[in-house]
Amino acid sequence: MRTPTLSTVLSIGLAIGLSATFVASTSLGQSTSTEETGDDGTIPFALPQSGPFTPAEIGIENNQAITDWFRSSHANAAAEAFSHWDDEGEIQASCATCHSGEGFRDFHGLDGTEAGVIDGTINVGGVVDCGTCHNAGLAEVREVTFPSGVVHPVQGVEASCLTCHQGRSAGVDVVNAIADLDVDTPDPSLRFINPHYATAAATWLGGYGAAGYHLPDREYSGRFFHARPVASCNSCHEPHTLEIEFEPCLTCHQADSPQDIRIARQSYDGSGNTSVGIKSDIDANAAMLLSMIEDYTDEVVGIPVIYDGARYPYFFADANNDGVVDTSDGRPVAYADWTPRSLRSAFNWKLVTADPGNYAHNPHYALELLYDSIEDLSGPLAIDMDDLNLLR
Ligand code: HEC
Ligand code: HEC
Ligand code: HEC
Ligand code: HEC
Ligand code: HEC
Repeated sequence: MRTPTLSTVLSIGLAIGLSATFVASTSLGQSTSTEETGDDGTIPFALPQSGPFTPAEIGIENNQAITDWFRSSHANAAAEAFSHWDDEGEIQASCATCHSGEGFRDFHGLDGTEAGVIDGTINVGGVVDCGTCHNAGLAEVREVTFPSGVVHPVQGVEASCLTCHQGRSAGVDVVNAIADLDVDTPDPSLRFINPHYATAAATWLGGYGAAGYHLPDREYSGRFFHARPVASCNSCHEPHTLEIEFEPCLTCHQADSPQDIRIARQSYDGSGNTSVGIKSDIDANAAMLLSMIEDYTDEVVGIPVIYDGARYPYFFADANNDGVVDTSDGRPVAYADWTPRSLRSAFNWKLVTADPGNYAHNPHYALELLYDSIEDLSGPLAIDMDDLNLLR
């Protein structure tokens, strides 16, 4: 049984409901105690000690939060992101922080255990539950460490989003893998390095967060500060539906949808078209980069790569160049002829495209990573960057 039953959800909801009815004026993350009434007489959002509760005790807004959350992907227990470990019976420690509320609380020490490690057994069946974000202990989490090693200060509920949406590897992992290797010679030690999924927070911190592979001697845009009051994840995402609240965007932008928003007056993708959203430029340059990675593996390395977004590890071999992924014992053959240059380009391409919101999270950084990797490949492919007419 993967899907949480309505009664499970309602009992969580009821529990939160009780505290929520007392808490109208308390903002999240500022509370410091789960059980005690605060100095100002409010009770923070948190699970109370006991139930059951009568329907009259469920706050109306709480009902709405439950409904919204229940329909969101955070609550989708059947999703691969939550059911992947079902056959093993418990979630591996290295995965549990982000794939279950219970794991998240264990990692941050919100369950009373040591912070910074998963020290308990994390059960399967968990989702991003209410207590992941509505947890008074979260206020004590003051910084989050990214895969690049960057330690970023956080406040309140932001700690939750930044913990789980930071990805699992960064440019530094690519640097370490390719160090001392000849840049255009395939090396059997190299395997595709996957940044992981929904890496919004990593994109958002830009060059300062160092999620991407940075070419030497380049400057990268830092965190995308946008404009006040757009300051954090929940400025744009309703925290329960996770959807974008588009109307507030129209205070500053004129567009029909987030995808259509554009501030930039120049074209980055060589099309000259500035009547489309900045997303269009990013998508075009990403498509160009992928096709250059394919050309490079074909023309320079001699073993073409095929990308298949539906199958891990996404990049497969086509040694006989028939346009179809090679198989061995009926299984697709993972690409194994990476050179430092193709590996670092593929990493940047995947990092940018692993974040469907890249254009809103940090369009500048996304465009820079794509431009630099395109330029990196242009040399061996004998392409003149001037002919492409791109902007960085
Ligand atoms: C830093 C947080 C984090 C860690 C650690 C983490 N993941 Fe994930 N993972 C995510 C997020 C966020 C998603 C959601 C992507 C989406 O579907 O939108 C995800 C998605 C997935 C998916 C679904 C991919 C898909 O195509 O739908 C799988 C499978 C997965 N992770 C496996 C793992 C494994 C295995 C580990 C441990 C070895 C792990 N993850 C560790 C954050 C993490
Ligand atoms: C991913 C994080 C997250 C999860 C999971 C989450 N919430 Fe929230 N919730 C928030 C944030 C952030 C706010 C503050 C919204 C604001 O200030 O506008 C909030 C606000 C609320 C509010 C105040 C009214 C409102 O909608 O703004 C209630 C009630 C609430 N949450 C209940 C719940 C319940 C019940 C659950 C589980 C079914 C839940 N939340 C799950 C992040 C979360
Ligand atoms: C415990 C880890 C965790 C926390 C905390 C967390 N997320 Fe997620 N988030 C995930 C996973 C895992 C998925 C993918 C779920 C799935 O595939 O069903 C996801 C999915 C999403 C999505 C994609 C929705 C969609 O329709 O595909 C958005 C947007 C999102 N999260 C935003 C946030 C924001 C904003 C916060 C902070 C308020 C947050 N998340 C906190 C793990 C987390
Ligand atoms: C300026 C507004 C804005 C901010 C701030 C913002 N996002 Fe987004 N986010 C978007 C937009 C727009 C999309 C793309 C939605 C689409 O195209 O459907 C998106 C997409 C996402 C997705 C992928 C959803 C999917 O469909 O798979 C995730 C996950 C996500 N954001 C998480 C975050 C997190 C975590 C933060 C904070 C670090 C954050 N966002 C900050 C606007 C924003
Ligand atoms: C308070 C005003 C304000 C609000 C509200 C606002 N934005 Fe912005 N937005 C800006 C400014 C200013 C920039 C340019 C920032 C920069 O490039 O440094 C920008 C840039 C962008 C860009 C990049 C455009 C480009 O051409 O580089 C996107 C995409 C975007 N905003 C999406 C959104 C979305 C989605 C929302 C609503 C969820 C939103 N914005 C709300 C002011 C705002």
